[in-house]
Amino acid sequence: MGQETVCITGAGGFIASWLVKKLLSKGYTVKGAVRNPDDGKYKHLRELEGAKERLQLVKADILDYQSMIEVIRGCDGVFHMACLLTDDPEQVLEPAIKGTANVLDACAEWGVKRLVMTSSIGAVYMDPNRDPHLVVDENCWSDLDYCIQTKNWYCYAKTVAENAAWKQAEERNLDMVVVNPCLVLGPLLQPSINASTAHIMKYLTGSAKTYANLTQAYVDVRDVAEAHILVYETPSACGRYLCAESNMHRGELVALLAQLFPQYPLPLMCSDQKNPRKQAYKFSNEKMKGLGLSFTPMKKCLADTVASLQNKGFLH
Ligand SMILES: NC(=O)c1ccc[n+]([C@@H]2O[C@H](COP(=O)([O-])OP(=O)(O)OC[C@H]3O[C@@H](n4cnc5c(N)ncnc54)[C@H](OP(=O)(O)O)[C@@H]3O)[C@@H](O)[C@H]2O)c1
Repeated sequence: MGQETVCITGAGGFIASWLVKKLLSKGYTVKGAVRNPDDGKYKHLRELEGAKERLQLVKADILDYQSMIEVIRGCDGVFHMACLLTDDPEQVLEPAIKGTANVLDACAEWGVKRLVMTSSIGAVYMDPNRDPHLVVDENCWSDLDYCIQTKNWYCYAKTVAENAAWKQAEERNLDMVVVNPCLVLGPLLQPSINASTAHIMKYLTGSAKTYANLTQAYVDVRDVAEAHILVYETPSACGRYLCAESNMHRGELVALLAQLFPQYPLPLMCSDQKNPRKQAYKFSNEKMKGLGLSFTPMKKCLADTVASLQNKGFLH
């Protein structure tokens, strides 16, 4: 496996950077598809061990089919990760839906051995009619009408894109496996703060004075990168893989952060003083564990995330 050439779309992103690092360390040759290879923001990739010999950053945009055809040519496998985490429909709908379709077409055109697509828990859990006692697993799909009503354009885009990708993969006889991570935290390799890290930054900096009456499932970025490699390298891997370690209320999250880092002005109060505390839904990560992944406990993930933010000078 290690001698293979693989392409990663959006190679400079938070999760993708860890995937590039791990693939290089396993001996893969990596083609990183990025929109502007000359941008200094990819310096961390060029400095990775093995990068000089086996990493090539190629100018490619998932919205430009021809550029996808060119970058995927000669690759054994493809990891499709490029997508912005935003609820701005202008920025997320077309890249998620058309961009994914372009990547699939290019993979099918060259007959790549396997495509691993990074979808999201956002394509899984957004369903107000789901029985609250049901364990959320790979069989669950988000409700598109609910995503539209709540203007959750990111979840809408990921759901439509993944659903269309399954149809397209079947039509084009393409071997595709999907990873559905929940909110990803962990140490940063890239120089800037990504959207999911911003989720905890606001509590650590004191810009959020209260926390919401909401729950969220979390996972460590190193585990998500590992999950992608496991589903790529395991021939029997198929379908979707939920990638989640624990589901916590915001109150539990800030309490854990306060316990680890009492020096930061973490909020003590919930913004909702009227309603009962929201219960976290149960989920299953058994399928992912079945491939051999052991998830990093959230306490360690949070400790490493904050240490990384301190090392990079985002927190003091
Ligand atoms: N982070 C999470 O909590 C989380 C959770 C579940 C699923 N995911 C999924 O995991 C993947 C990676 O997320 P992330 O948080 O690591 O993202 P990120 O750090 O925000 O990086 C996203 C990348 O997508 C690229 N991109 C966006 N539009 C593009 C286009 N039109 N053509 C080519 N590249 C484009 C960007 O590339 P440039 O360098 O060219 O700007 C950027 O490197 C996404 O598919 C996301 O939906 C993330």
